[in-house]
Amino acid sequence: MRVIFERTSVRDFDWIEVPNSHVDYLIKTAMNAPNSGHQRPWEFIVVRDRKVMDELTKMHGYENNYGIVDVAIVVCINQERIKWDGYWQMNTGTAVENMMLSATDLGYATLWLEIFPVERKVNEARAILNLPDHVIPMMMMPIGEAVHDERREPCFLKDQIHYNQW
Ligand SMILES: Cc1cc2nc3c(=O)[nH]c(=O)nc-3n(C[C@H](O)[C@H](O)[C@H](O)COP(=O)(O)O)c2cc1C
Repeated sequence: MRVIFERTSVRDFDWIEVPNSHVDYLIKTAMNAPNSGHQRPWEFIVVRDRKVMDELTKMHGYENNYGIVDVAIVVCINQERIKWDGYWQMNTGTAVENMMLSATDLGYATLWLEIFPVERKVNEARAILNLPDHVIPMMMMPIGEAVHDERREPCFLKDQIHYNQW
C-alpha cells in the first residue's frame, strides 16, 4: 500500500489548513482500527486553540516546530472503558497508525509525539487538557505540511525474519 511507504515522521512543519471534515475522517479511521475485545477505549482531543497548542509545545520542550500547525490530535485512553487490562497500549498503536496512514493519504505530514509513558508529560498534558484522572494522554499527532521531503528507502530487515522456527 503506497501510503505505508510514503509516511515518515516529520519534525519540521509548515502550516496548512486542515478542515474539520478531515479531522473527523482521521478520527473515524482510528475508531475503525482493530482493538482487543472491541473495547474501543480511546478518547480524542482535537487541539486548535493557540494557547493550548503553545502549552503542549512547551511540555515537549520545544523539540519540534509543531506549535505552528493548524490542528493536532491528542489520543487518550479512558481507563473506565477498559474491560481487560494489558491491551490498551496496543489499542493506542492500531488507532494511531490508521490515523497516520489516512493523513498521509490526504497529503498531510504527521508525527508521533510521545506523552505516555513519561510521567512528567502525562501529568502536564493532563493539566493542560483538563483531563480527568482516569484518562491517560498517550500521544499527540500534529497535522501539517512537511518543509522537506523526508521520504527514504523502504525498510526490509531480512535477518529479522524467521521461517517456521527461530
Ligand atoms: C511510541 C512512539 C513514540 C514516539 N515518540 C516520538 C517523539 O516523542 N518525538 C519524535 O520526534 N518522534 C517520536 N516517534 C517517531 C519515531 O522516532 C519514528 O517513527 C521512527 O524513528 C521511525 O521513523 P519514521 O516514522 O519516519 O518511519 C515515536 C514513535 C512511536 C511509535
